[in-house]
Amino acid sequence: MNNKRYQMYDDHPFKLGLFGANCSSGRAANILPERWLADWDSCVKMASLADQGGIDFILPIGRWKGYGGPTDFQGTTFETITWATGLLAYTEKLTIFGTVHAPLFNPMVAAKQIVTADHVGNGRFGLNIVVGWNEPEFKMSGVSQRDHGDRYEYAEEWISAIKKMWNDTKPFNYDKDYLKLSNVVAKPKLYSDSSPLIINAGRSEVGRAFALRHCHAFFTNFHETDVKKSAEFVKRFKSDAKTLGREANVFTQGHVVCRPSKKEAKEYFEYLTTDAADYAALEGLLKLKNITRSNTEDFDDYLKKLPPKNVGYPVVGSPDDVAEKFILMHSAGLSGIAFSLVNYVDELPLIINEVIPRLRKAGL
Ligand SMILES: Cc1cc2nc3c(=O)[nH]c(=O)nc-3n(C[C@H](O)[C@H](O)[C@H](O)COP(=O)(O)O)c2cc1C
Repeated sequence: MNNKRYQMYDDHPFKLGLFGANCSSGRAANILPERWLADWDSCVKMASLADQGGIDFILPIGRWKGYGGPTDFQGTTFETITWATGLLAYTEKLTIFGTVHAPLFNPMVAAKQIVTADHVGNGRFGLNIVVGWNEPEFKMSGVSQRDHGDRYEYAEEWISAIKKMWNDTKPFNYDKDYLKLSNVVAKPKLYSDSSPLIINAGRSEVGRAFALRHCHAFFTNFHETDVKKSAEFVKRFKSDAKTLGREANVFTQGHVVCRPSKKEAKEYFEYLTTDAADYAALEGLLKLKNITRSNTEDFDDYLKKLPPKNVGYPVVGSPDDVAEKFILMHSAGLSGIAFSLVNYVDELPLIINEVIPRLRKAGL
């Protein structure tokens, strides 16, 4: 990765990141009593454990409205730039991202928020750019959601303006289709000369093209049954970035259940994604994507099968199994994984004490 400060923390070929910990229930819609409540004290404990234990990054979710259900899944969420800034002050080594909805954050404000976080963290702040999809979140903010392609055109202007604010030392005008900014000044500059890590997880062609132009890392799904397919995707993405004169890595995302034995882990994951799932919340999420009881055949069957899919790629098993899966992902060229846990503080120690040493032994 062509980024000085990233290389400072770049001694792990396969990076581990915690995903979704700023949101209640993390990324698994569940009703378990031990589910993650995302209160501040627990977030600080999680970040300290992760920092001391060799986790590489923390990636929050930009979420403004919960999905309902008995737990109001992801209904309690910290805003991510301020959350990251607070946690950067408590940590020393890991990178913490802010997940920023470009259409909701005025670029002048966002540029300065990012610079502030970057100074607090001595260059450890990262930016995850999202363009948004969730209509009620936009309605709640009073901002109209643009057509899909236009969202990325806007994001293009947004990040380009922000980069100028980070870099230009003289006042400038920025007169584009969406943004018209005059006599712009911004001080202080970033913590160092290099850019903060910028990532994106668009699934569409325009999303991918945006990532190729602006991001140091891109997120995609891992295909365990067809590792070759994942490897080909990674190879193509990197070579397309190279064609644009850039260097970019590819990461994946998932959910980890690691227990001393494979049997315990499998039983817990099965329970989490069946009897302990918050189906009403998942029904709320599907409604946002216009998948409803009235327009979908076999809706109940669809809903029943959703919990394991909704958490992303499941990495379930003993420390040996989990390490093995990470090694397989690395063999496909992936540079790391952002994963969620049911309870980040309770479950991290086994990963730190048992999985990370296995990865080290494997040279990762
Ligand atoms: C790892 C990952 C993180 C994401 N984080 C968020 C988020 O925090 N907030 C959000 O609204 N969307 C998030 N998304 C959704 C993407 O930003 C994007 O909208 C989605 O993948 C659809 O892609 P498209 O915009 O190219 O259609 C995330 C997706 C992935 C895979």
